[in-house]
Amino acid sequence: MTTSPKDRVYIFDTTLRDGEQCPGATMTFEEKLEVADLLESMGVDIIEAGFPIASDGDFQAVQAIAKRIKNATVTGLARAGMKDIDRAGEAVKGAARPRIHTFLSTSPVHMKYKLQKEPAEVLQMVRDSVTRARNWVDNVEWSAEDGTRTEFDFLCQCVDAAIKAGATTINIPDTVGYTTPDEYRSLFRKVREQVANSDKAIFSVHCHNDLGMAVANSLAGLEGGARQIECTINGIGERAGNAALEEIVMAIKTRGDVLPYDCRIDATMLNRASKLVSAATSFPVQYNKAIVGRNAFAHESGIHQDGMLKHTQTYEIMTPESVGVSKTSLVMGKHSGRNAFRNKLQELGYELGDNQLEDAFTRFKTLADRKKHIYDEDIEALVDEGIATATDRTKVIALIVIAGTMGPQSATLTLDVDGTEKTVQATGNGPVDATFNAIHKLIPHTAMLELYQVHAVTQGTDAQAEVSVRLHEEGRTVTAKAADPDTLVASAKAYIGALNKLMIKRQREATPQTTAPDRLRLGGV
Ligand code: KIV
Ligand code: ZN
Repeated sequence: MTTSPKDRVYIFDTTLRDGEQCPGATMTFEEKLEVADLLESMGVDIIEAGFPIASDGDFQAVQAIAKRIKNATVTGLARAGMKDIDRAGEAVKGAARPRIHTFLSTSPVHMKYKLQKEPAEVLQMVRDSVTRARNWVDNVEWSAEDGTRTEFDFLCQCVDAAIKAGATTINIPDTVGYTTPDEYRSLFRKVREQVANSDKAIFSVHCHNDLGMAVANSLAGLEGGARQIECTINGIGERAGNAALEEIVMAIKTRGDVLPYDCRIDATMLNRASKLVSAATSFPVQYNKAIVGRNAFAHESGIHQDGMLKHTQTYEIMTPESVGVSKTSLVMGKHSGRNAFRNKLQELGYELGDNQLEDAFTRFKTLADRKKHIYDEDIEALVDEGIATATDRTKVIALIVIAGTMGPQSATLTLDVDGTEKTVQATGNGPVDATFNAIHKLIPHTAMLELYQVHAVTQGTDAQAEVSVRLHEEGRTVTAKAADPDTLVASAKAYIGALNKLMIKRQREATPQTTAPDRLRLGGV
């Protein structure tokens, strides 16, 4: 493959697979469709929609995404077994552009301990799995799991075998986030030189962030000749996460002088994508996160502010608008009508159906009655929360809390549980504790509260509180977020949101395609 001044680089998004797979990032079916639609509108080339054999829920999501996506290639992940591949083939077969992504470990440590197979057997499995996948689709990607810790000659033999069997994309993942930019660049150069038919496939990078080098490694892989980047929105993924899509895209767009690649992502949608994924997974975005963190374009120090006022290029290498961040603006109040609200949503990148719009508008009016100034961030929190809770079985109806210096504090809580209203009273060591005890009384569970975090959506004492809650129960971790001008109501909603997700998770596991331990055995995937 030659390197022209602007070589096309394909963006492969795996938010719905590697991202969703990490502890606590579970998304519902509807949330997955919403994310897939946004990825398609942004111009993502390949959407990895899930891991079809992992559960019926995963299969159905991949199948539905395959059917609705028109421009992007849709792929499903499969291990090397025939059942996995057939399940992935079945799931993506309705796509306009279907792909099967199959993988197998090739490093000595994975072959010996995880697969318990000899290299010769692994090599044969590469041939068989790619051949099987080619019976379903023409577009097959093969990945050498733990590729960066694989012996070079064996890696080349596997890549050669995969291409001969019909793989059109070859991915060499840094599964454990171990490599460095120089090493990864040279690995791609050397493999492409060594494998005789390497020009028959597109090479792909897939980097994990254990040492904080996922984006740097991915970009170095491009210099080594790779032309596909696997990444996730907000960098979510196993352990420390995957390379962040928004960072890769903006590095290429901002430093075209040294990264001369053509990547067709509409960067003005990056901020919206980050918010949607954060809302769907309930993973907060770190404040100083590059590109999409709330401080990414904030200038606090006097010297910086002075420079910015004189010329924005003094401290800004890209504009907030280029990634879809508009300056915080006072948008609307309680007199704003439905049309103004609809226009505002469109400006913020939301396209809601009539029912969703009506629901969001009602909640906007309720918020406007309680909060004088409504900012873009308030509207985003409100809509995202609606999307996240649309299918919830349990909802908060009312909460009355008695707080103050005279304990014990108490909470009277009314919930709608599957259409039935239930009320209970509880006391606790503080109002949050009382509220959570009330929830516990109405929905008995054994989940442990691992994280409780509050932050203000905007500024001012009437700002909405955004609360994140993470629960852990028997190997399952779930996270949920909720916003409300009343911190205690937001806390109750977030806790209930997490319990709803836990319920979905338990149900998913009760109807698995493979056993739960199977899914666990995919560690590092
Ligand atoms: O990290 C990894 O090796 C993976 C592969 C399945 C591509 O996610
Ligand atoms: Zn991975």
